[in-house]
Amino acid sequence: MMAFNVSSSPVFTPTAQVAIVDALVEQGWYVGQDVINRDLCKALHDELLHMAEHDALEEAGIGRGNQHHLRKDIRGDAIHWLDRESEAQRYYLNAMGELQQSLNQALFLGLFEYEAHFAHYPAGAFYQRHLDSFRGRANRVISTVGYLNPDWPVGGGGEMVIYHPDAPHKEIARVIPEAGTFACFLSETIPHEVLPTRLPRASIAGWFRRNASLGGVLDPAR
Ligand code: OGA
Ligand code: MN
Repeated sequence: MMAFNVSSSPVFTPTAQVAIVDALVEQGWYVGQDVINRDLCKALHDELLHMAEHDALEEAGIGRGNQHHLRKDIRGDAIHWLDRESEAQRYYLNAMGELQQSLNQALFLGLFEYEAHFAHYPAGAFYQRHLDSFRGRANRVISTVGYLNPDWPVGGGGEMVIYHPDAPHKEIARVIPEAGTFACFLSETIPHEVLPTRLPRASIAGWFRRNASLGGVLDPAR
């Protein structure tokens, strides 16, 4: 497996962090192409493909805890939670840690933790329209998706569709799952879905969380 080259450029392009924070403040979502280091995407993609080929992924379900169950009619990906076991994972998670600091400084969100999993969608798989968090209940505040497939072909399907928070059938963006692209949005308000993919599709879905015991209380803006 190829190791990510430590001496190469940073994980995010320098302007990306600022753009992400600004877009979240202004519209509640962000999509940028060519913002994640391509070498890192390749290392992460290689790692995920290796796991997929060796049956090291678990079928993704819906719901948490004992409410967790498989629903292939709702989502068809297989996942592996990032655990810092490779250098590439550590680079990705460290970059998300920096983003977490920027988000906290700008938005007073009190984000305290980041969790993320690799997701492998085999051909034909999809994830129906959903929210990542339910207001007041769960503690996922901001969702992130990093895409890993190089050279995604026209007509390859697998786009992530982002819908309007107040009109959940109104499409506002369609994200091609191309390596280097990064998407980020408010977990409680932005409905989104993954359209059926025609090719194996690789991404990392992650969530910044707030301590559940804070019960959704935001720090007041100064
Ligand atoms: C998710 C999700 C989107 C994607 O895992 O909750 O919406 O493009 N993923 O992989
Ligand atoms: Mn989602």
